[in-house]
Amino acid sequence: MTRVFVLNGVNLGPLGQRRPEVYGTLTLNDIESLLRGEFTDVDFEFRQTDYEGEMVGFVREAAGSDGLILNPGAWTHYSYALHDAVEAVDVPKVEVHLSNVHAREEWRRHSVVSPAVDAVVAGMGALGYEAAIRYVLSRIG
Ligand code: DQA
Repeated sequence: MTRVFVLNGVNLGPLGQRRPEVYGTLTLNDIESLLRGEFTDVDFEFRQTDYEGEMVGFVREAAGSDGLILNPGAWTHYSYALHDAVEAVDVPKVEVHLSNVHAREEWRRHSVVSPAVDAVVAGMGALGYEAAIRYVLSRIG
């Protein structure tokens, strides 16, 4: 069975309550259910953490999988540690942002993670996760 890691970083736990006008009203559980319902042939490791070191461990675990989808939250913009962890993992990798980071504050326009991934999706809400999974599945044929 195809195994895909969907990792959500710092401050993505309260999704649904946190700035719904920016991030939407779906909770992380809603997004997980949506993905599990749509991609029944995929074995998901769907996780969230507010701890950078724990996230680095999750990313390393993804090395043994078929794909990595990562929403790093604010770590996107400054975590070289996360960049290095992602860079070292050789599976199809997609960075996802619910919001259009390019239409927001200047500091959100730069991602230190993007150079380490194959593709980036931003501004599509939960649809971005679905698109990312489709991309991963297309890569593994
Ligand atoms: C985010 C965008 C980041 O800038 C922000 O810090 C987040 C969420 C998004 O999904 O749009 O926490 O990654």
